Amino acid sequence: MGWLDGYVALVTGGGSGIGRAVVRRFLAEGCRGVGVMVRSAEQAADLLEEFGEQVVVSRGDVRSGADNQRAVELTLERWGRLDTLVGNAGVWDFFTRLEKMSLEELDAGFDEIFGVNVKGYALAARAAAAALRESRGSMIFTLSNSAFYAGGGGPLYVASKHAGLGLIRQLAYEFAPEVRVNGVAPGGTVTPLRGPESLGKQERRLSEIPNFQENVAASMPLQLIAQPEDHAGHYVLLASRENSRATTAAVIQSDGGWEIRPIR
Ligand SMILES: NC(=O)c1ccc[n+]([C@@H]2O[C@H](COP(=O)([O-])OP(=O)(O)OC[C@H]3O[C@@H](n4cnc5c(N)ncnc54)[C@H](O)[C@@H]3O)[C@@H](O)[C@H]2O)c1
Repeated sequence: MGWLDGYVALVTGGGSGIGRAVVRRFLAEGCRGVGVMVRSAEQAADLLEEFGEQVVVSRGDVRSGADNQRAVELTLERWGRLDTLVGNAGVWDFFTRLEKMSLEELDAGFDEIFGVNVKGYALAARAAAAALRESRGSMIFTLSNSAFYAGGGGPLYVASKHAGLGLIRQLAYEFAPEVRVNGVAPGGTVTPLRGPESLGKQERRLSEIPNFQENVAASMPLQLIAQPEDHAGHYVLLASRENSRATTAAVIQSDGGWEIRPIR
C-alpha cells in the first residue's frame, strides 16, 4: 500500500532533476499514472523508456497557456481525473548580479525567468483548477531557499522564487476549501538546472559549476548537497489527503538548514 494509491498527478519539468525524482516516487507510492510536461523530445523519449504506460508525456513550454492546457487534457483523457499538480519547471540565473546585466539583458532576463518560474506556475494552476476542484486535490510548487533568503541566485531568480511564495499563499486562499496549495523549497541539489537563453546561459548546468557540491555542503549546517530524491518524500506527504489534509499555504524547507546558517 502506497500513500498515493490510485492518485493521478501532473508534473511540469518532470523530465530531469527534482521533477523526475517526484515522478518516480509518486509511481512507487501507488499513483495510477503521472502526466509529465517536458521541453525536449529527448526527455520525452527517456521518460517513456523508464516508465512506459505509467506516464503520459506532453512536450511544451510552460510559458504557454495552451501547452499547459494540453498537458492537463492528455492526463484527463488517459486516466479521467487529476489529484495533484506539481508545478516544478524552472530556470536559474547563475548568480547574475543586477549590475552585470545591461538594461536589455535585464529586460529580457526578467521576462524569461519570471515567465518560466512564475507565469509557468500560474498557467499550470489555471489549467488544472477545475479538475483539482472536482477531485478535491492539491497543488504543490517547487520553490527554493531563494523564496526566503538572499544569496542563492541573482535578483531575477531570488525575486521569482519569492513571487512563487506569494502565488502559493494567494492560490491557497482562493482555492480553499476544495484544493490545498503548498510548496517544497529545496536548497542546492545536484541537477542539470540550466540558465536563461536571454543571458546566454542556456547551455550552462548548475551541476557543472566547479566545486559546486563541496561549496554548498560546506556552507550548510547539515553539511550536505542534496540529490533530487532527497526532496521527493515531501511532495508525497503534501499530495496525500490522508496525511496532510489540514495543511495548506505551507512550504516544506528541504535546504540543509539555510535558516540557521552561521554568519560568516
Ligand atoms: N537544483 C537546485 O539546486 C535547486 C534548488 C532550489 C530550487 N530548485 C528548483 O527546482 C525546480 C526543478 O529544477 P531542477 O533543479 O530539478 O533542474 P532541472 O533542469 O533538472 O529541472 C527543470 C526542468 O524544467 C524544464 N523547463 C525549463 N524551462 C522550461 C519551459 N520553458 N517549459 C517547459 N519546461 C521547462 C527543464 O527542461 C527541466 O527538465 C526548479 O523550479 C528550480 O528552480 C532547484
